[in-house]
Amino acid sequence: MKQYVVGITGASGSIYGLRTTEALLEAGARVRLILTGTGEKVVAYETGQEAGEWIAGFKKRFPDQLIPEDNSDLFSASASGSHLADGMIIAPCSMSKLAHISAGITPDLMTRAADVALKQRRPLVLMPRETPLSQIHLKNMLALAECGAFIVPAMPAFYQKPKSLDDMADFMAGRVLDCLGVENHRYARWKEEV
Ligand SMILES: Cc1cc2nc3c(=O)[nH]c(=O)nc-3n(C[C@H](O)[C@H](O)[C@H](O)COP(=O)(O)O)c2cc1C
Repeated sequence: MKQYVVGITGASGSIYGLRTTEALLEAGARVRLILTGTGEKVVAYETGQEAGEWIAGFKKRFPDQLIPEDNSDLFSASASGSHLADGMIIAPCSMSKLAHISAGITPDLMTRAADVALKQRRPLVLMPRETPLSQIHLKNMLALAECGAFIVPAMPAFYQKPKSLDDMADFMAGRVLDCLGVENHRYARWKEEV
């Protein structure tokens, strides 16, 4: 079974991380899910549902696949390079987490797991969300892209004519799975049937 670590930070767009988690679970992968404290608050604010309710919903549907993690638990398996993960995703990724990872500063499980993904040369997919972007944000993204991370900004396309916010979130979730090489049909590909 493929294993991924998914992080959800306090950047706007929690739905991107939630749909990405669901897409990986539906694809049969195991997901270790980490939310930051602010991430939990933004999930509740933006979706109207507490993070705990989302986690309970995923756990009910995918009891053997979802592993909720505590972001303060640096003793977790995800904190070690000896734990065989297939990759990590942070969606949405705050500018704060981007800066921490780019500088190699890892005070919590999410940043440590991202640092581990980079050092082990495993896929790291970051979905930054901010606008406009400062030079600091852009430099951090460039540094991480140079280390091999996929920078997948939260930029849903309109050429697939989305009808709902879920369509837009699914487009981004699908693009994340594409980076990981996980087969998916989350969005209509250009000039292809769904
Ligand atoms: C409603 C809300 C929306 C936010 N949106 C963003 C955002 O889009 N991008 C960003 O970098 N920070 C955003 N922030 C600020 C981050 O939450 C803040 O920098 C926080 O320290 C990030 O912490 P974390 O990376 O541990 O989740 C937002 C905060 C709130 C309350």
